Amino acid sequence: MKTELLKVDEKCDEILKRAAELIKGGSLVGFPTETVYGLGTNAFDADACLNIFKAKGRPADNPLIVHISRPEDAEKISYTNELYYKLAKRFMPGALTVIMPKRDIIPGSVTAGLDTVAVRCPINKIAHKLIELSGVPIAAPSANRSGKPSPTSAKHVFDDMDGIIPMILDGGDCEVGVESTVIKIDESSIILLRPGAITFEMLKEVCDNVSISSAVTEELKEGEKPLSPGMKYKHYAPKAELYLIDDNYVDFVSFVNERSKTENCAVMCYDEEAERITSDKLLPVGEKNDVKKQTKRLFMLLRKADDMKVMTIYAHLPEKGGESLAMYNRMIRACAHRVIGGTNGKI
Ligand code: TXA
Ligand code: MG
Repeated sequence: MKTELLKVDEKCDEILKRAAELIKGGSLVGFPTETVYGLGTNAFDADACLNIFKAKGRPADNPLIVHISRPEDAEKISYTNELYYKLAKRFMPGALTVIMPKRDIIPGSVTAGLDTVAVRCPINKIAHKLIELSGVPIAAPSANRSGKPSPTSAKHVFDDMDGIIPMILDGGDCEVGVESTVIKIDESSIILLRPGAITFEMLKEVCDNVSISSAVTEELKEGEKPLSPGMKYKHYAPKAELYLIDDNYVDFVSFVNERSKTENCAVMCYDEEAERITSDKLLPVGEKNDVKKQTKRLFMLLRKADDMKVMTIYAHLPEKGGESLAMYNRMIRACAHRVIGGTNGKI
């Protein structure tokens, strides 16, 4: 199959209409959102949704997110409640995905047989218009091949999906750079299943009862079933072995300089450290205090490290809270909990 890669903005009506027709007809289209690129199709079309799993090589038990253009459209596909509307008023459109009981109209192939559905209303203008023009909700996971870092540019999608899908819309680099915050709600409580740009602290401002699923920060125990199936897979894994360095215990610069003498390694450092690091395979992630920029660049740098064909990657262990929690979660899983220094670490 030939894959069209088309530069767009929200005013490119002709291209967006064509993309919407493809989606309505059950084909797969790569499209930008503010978090990462999605691989979308008609959420009411059971077979089309099965094709998403094939295109990604995604395990059949990992459900998809359904994208809507207006928060109230959640009504058509799920059983909402007052808390949903409180959250919607504050955070939608935006990087928040809410899991609620599903209505029958959503096929089991979207939810991997679960009786709940994940609902998200993106703020990206291209995504918004695409959903409106399609006239149906769009089921879309991240547009990477399963196991690779989520794509934050159209080129990443092209690298993974060329020849597999008919169209990719190029709307530039994603602003956030990690996937949306995923929460499960009932009438009065929220469980945070995947941290993102909408933080635990922000959710607390809307609801007193917010808890964080242990799968966000801890390794799953043998046989343990996470609340979000996606959390059990070793996601975002670069080909090289990633190690995180806990700077509370190990001096990052001396450690990586020592290692680069004998190892083919890449170093993901803060911008201000770059000059003092002797390795020629540097991946500056942003200034130490600029967590937003670091988050935005993370997946791009993990892909770049793969291109460098290194054996190992060293990076800082992010803080386990606040707006860093999303980075912590992605990185601790990408490195399979290999931390150097610190209480749970080794050297
Ligand atoms: O930012 C995002 O959320 C991007 C863009 C494209 O919207 N999408 C995305 O989708 O990251 P995906 O499929 O890569 O991640 C969806 C996550 C998975 O971990 C999945 O297990 C979880 O949401 N999920 C979906 N439906 C669920 C459900 N009914 N119950 C529990 N977890 C669910
Ligand atoms: Mg994904």
